[in-house]
Amino acid sequence: MESIEHDFYLNPIFIGLLLLAISLWLYIRQGRAKLPPGPWHIPFVGNPWELAADPDLRKSLRRLHMQYGDIYRLYMGPKLAVVISGYEAIKEVFVKRGGEFSDRPESLIFTLIFENQGIVTTSGEIWKKHRKFTLTTLRNLGFGKTSLEGKIHTEVTILLSEIAKQQKNPFQLLQLVQTSVSNVINAMIFGGHFKQDDPKFKKVMTLLDETFENTGPQNIVVFFPFLRYLPGDMFHVKKTLRNVKYIEGFIGDLIDKHMENFDENKIEDFTDAFLLKMKSDRDQTDSIFTKKHLTKTVLGLFGAGAETTTTTIVWAILYLAAKQDIQARIFREINKIVGTDRLPSLQDKLKLVYTEAFIMEILRACTIFPVSIPHTCSVDLKIQGFDIPKGTTLLPDIDSVHFDPNIWGDPEEFRPERFIGEEGHLLTPEEFIPFFTGRRNCVGESLARMELDLFIPALVQRYEFLPPEDTTLDIKEIDGVFGVTHKPKPFEIRAIVRNKDAN
Ligand code: HEM
Repeated sequence: MESIEHDFYLNPIFIGLLLLAISLWLYIRQGRAKLPPGPWHIPFVGNPWELAADPDLRKSLRRLHMQYGDIYRLYMGPKLAVVISGYEAIKEVFVKRGGEFSDRPESLIFTLIFENQGIVTTSGEIWKKHRKFTLTTLRNLGFGKTSLEGKIHTEVTILLSEIAKQQKNPFQLLQLVQTSVSNVINAMIFGGHFKQDDPKFKKVMTLLDETFENTGPQNIVVFFPFLRYLPGDMFHVKKTLRNVKYIEGFIGDLIDKHMENFDENKIEDFTDAFLLKMKSDRDQTDSIFTKKHLTKTVLGLFGAGAETTTTTIVWAILYLAAKQDIQARIFREINKIVGTDRLPSLQDKLKLVYTEAFIMEILRACTIFPVSIPHTCSVDLKIQGFDIPKGTTLLPDIDSVHFDPNIWGDPEEFRPERFIGEEGHLLTPEEFIPFFTGRRNCVGESLARMELDLFIPALVQRYEFLPPEDTTLDIKEIDGVFGVTHKPKPFEIRAIVRNKDAN
């Protein structure tokens, strides 16, 4: 008797009807609520075409923002999503009411990759504890401190000599930068260094890149999880899982080595610190400091830390090659303040005003996260009189802030000078939010800023970046690719060693 009942509840028709009833109930409940305005949608299907209407995600966001205002709704399949645009609305929701809107929503990709462990996709107490531990540990290891400068300089020097091997020929910069940047975060997490041609490390980088490309909000499997069961792998879910498995295998081997050689009196990197915490928590049955959480935290730090900074540096080099006048001005400033006999340091940053303004303009104009990582709320709430049912996916539209003409005047123009005040000092408007804002803002901001401040000036100090011979680069015609981040399509560049006496 019991087994018949059991079989009944596992029956696919019963499960299907139950899901339908739940969706219908949610739909009726949402129908009664005063939701933000938004485009029409088909019940249970939603309006996934709205964000996918243009390969340039920013164009779709700008059209919707113009039409529906700062707070509007979309449906991802049957799930409600609310886009929060414009600085004032973003500040109200994620800063002033950050305590209510700092959870992460459930999402197929998040669940498959992170399994509700680690820092990037968790919510509530698990997230708070992991975030606090991660921030404290990374700060102790030198985040935002000059003690990290030496490690970054080592990677900068290696990158400069790898570029020298290209000998004026056109080449793709991405992988070289990616290995150097990943080695910085790698040194903090595991210690040690991987060579540019290490096949395993190279493969991890390639797979990470592929995973970022395939899991952005434009992949419709995010809205219709059942699509992953279709034959083949049209939505790259199987490939993503294979990639993540490989990367986790690589991370797992490094963790195992740390476990074998663990010495609690010698805590040298993030993994050591986590193992120490695991040891001190070992008697707690509900501890969230476990090997699995460590693996997922490291996966998050690696993914978030390597891709983003690499993409920003690659955008910077592309702009420099396209805008020779800006490149020449940056070189003149570096040559005057630093010279060419030593690498630019963090101390130079305050004096390299134009170079710093250029880096900020790259972070604004290329906004590598046009939409930040989604947030949610764990109870029903209201924003500006609109109902936001619990579990709604909130999409923070950073592009709408970075391209708001009321803030920047001429946001479409690439103009580093906008970050320089009348007295020649750097200006940082509060609306400059590439690392987002509020309680869930980027954990790696200080590391990323240090890397950008050390890599980009050093590259310009040594090389002049040019498009391949007989070609021109018009930045307005260069397409970005939208996955999790916004990055340039693959491109080739030439790097010519500068004449030391040039100015
Ligand atoms: C130019 C480089 C970078 C940019 C533009 C960037 C931007 C962002 C943005 C927009 C978010 C989402 C914030 C939110 O959900 O509200 C984020 C989250 C995050 N970033 Fe970065 N990031 C960069 C570099 C890094 C680096 C180097 C690390 C490595 C330590 C890192 C680690 C993280 C982590 C762990 C999160 C999730 C934080 C959480 O969920 O609490 N990021 N980043």
